[in-house]
Amino acid sequence: MEITTQSLFPTLVWTTLFTDRVAFNANLLELATQLRNSDPAGVANTNVKGWQSPNNLQNLEQFEQINQRILQVCERIAESQNFRPNLNLHLQAWVNISPPGASNKIHYHANCHFSGVYYISVPSPECGSIFFRDPRAAAKMLTYPAIKPTEFTTDEVRMRPEEGRMYVFPGWLEHGVEENKSDRDRIGISFNVLAMP
Ligand SMILES: [Fe+2]
Repeated sequence: MEITTQSLFPTLVWTTLFTDRVAFNANLLELATQLRNSDPAGVANTNVKGWQSPNNLQNLEQFEQINQRILQVCERIAESQNFRPNLNLHLQAWVNISPPGASNKIHYHANCHFSGVYYISVPSPECGSIFFRDPRAAAKMLTYPAIKPTEFTTDEVRMRPEEGRMYVFPGWLEHGVEENKSDRDRIGISFNVLAMP
């Protein structure tokens, strides 16, 4: 007897690794540092013990390159999901600098087609992974008596961040970032994108 499986309502995470990441990130690292120096208090949000810039990178000329790349990636994804052509992608982006001991509480971004993060600096594996929680609400009503989780039975997925890689996911997917247990800062740019006519 052959049993076939079919994936219904899959939750997608899209990633892309920039080939020019070394030079690109060196420049971004400088820009992020300058931004923090100009506003050492930053804003409070989901970050615990970390520094977060206001959600305004999209209005800052010096961040034009990363803003454009985020939009390009989201445009390609939107196209792959049959979004209508010629939509306006509204971007909000901000810098996260997470020193040792910092983390991001689990959260989601309401009313955003895409959310994501681009990693500028994750100097060691102990910097902490991004994790995603099972969005299938009804599935949380029971646990599986399994020896080892599968993609189907798991309730959480962790991804180790990689420098120069952008991660994009639907805004409704709950996510957080583990504590930075290294001795260096974890630095990234987070964003939300809403596609509008
Ligand atoms: Fe987020």
